[in-house]
Amino acid sequence: MDYQHIEVIPLTPSTGAEIRGVDLSNAIPDEVLEEIKQALWEHLFIYFRDQDLDPDTFGNVGQRFGPLHDEPFIPKLEGHAGIHQFRGVNAAQLSVQNLRWHVDHSYAKEPTMGAALYAVDVPASGGDTLFANMYMAYDALSPAMKQVVEPLTAVHDILSYGLASGHHSLSTTEQIDMLKTMRNKFPQVEHPLVCHHPETGRPYLFVNPCWVVGIAGMTAEESAGLLGFLNDHTTKPEFQCRFHWENGTFGMWDNRCVLHSPIGDHIGRRAMLRLAIGASEGPIAHRAAA
Ligand SMILES: [Fe+2]
Repeated sequence: MDYQHIEVIPLTPSTGAEIRGVDLSNAIPDEVLEEIKQALWEHLFIYFRDQDLDPDTFGNVGQRFGPLHDEPFIPKLEGHAGIHQFRGVNAAQLSVQNLRWHVDHSYAKEPTMGAALYAVDVPASGGDTLFANMYMAYDALSPAMKQVVEPLTAVHDILSYGLASGHHSLSTTEQIDMLKTMRNKFPQVEHPLVCHHPETGRPYLFVNPCWVVGIAGMTAEESAGLLGFLNDHTTKPEFQCRFHWENGTFGMWDNRCVLHSPIGDHIGRRAMLRLAIGASEGPIAHRAAA
């Protein structure tokens, strides 16, 4: 892609690119926005260093990509619709705050199309995020395995991570009520295992170890075997980048075709603003679009 209005510097050959030449605190001209979107589709995770944003200007940038989506399980920032905040964790929270590899809201019928973070006050080391390219993961499968996975749908379940991670338990009435609330809000959902990206037209693998509990129509043993392979395959280092946040960094990812994994290795303050961008439709099956 030949960019006229922005500079795009890839972080790794697979995933991530720094965008230079844009001050996000000002209104973004349409032609610049168009190139930023192209860079996002091409590199899946893009970031801008040394930006000076407040919650309002952060939200304004997000809205140029689509309507902001209210995050159900992240603390809201009072007075700013659609803006949430991370504050960091104490030592007791460290072992359960790491979501590991996931797609945001894949347990929802219409998972969000993207998300953005703005680093307000982050540690000099630690608190990095991993991203992995699911186009490349699909492309790297053998023709025989592509034929196996393309017709399949995966079952996504919000309860999976909550129970397995220790975030929730069945030991108190309050915890059971919380799990019931989550289940009522998000019933189990099936999504195609190989999806079609509406912007690029490319197929990508849509599977993650956080929320996917099985393959529709398979036994538990069969599902475990196939998902074990796919979860190992999708998180190979050659599909990844590891990103270090600095104060003033704005980062955004395409939540459809990239997995991400926050690395929970930092105790203490890690102040970040967070927003997610809603999608107008759920994941599209590659086989239906082909
Ligand atoms: Fe996430």
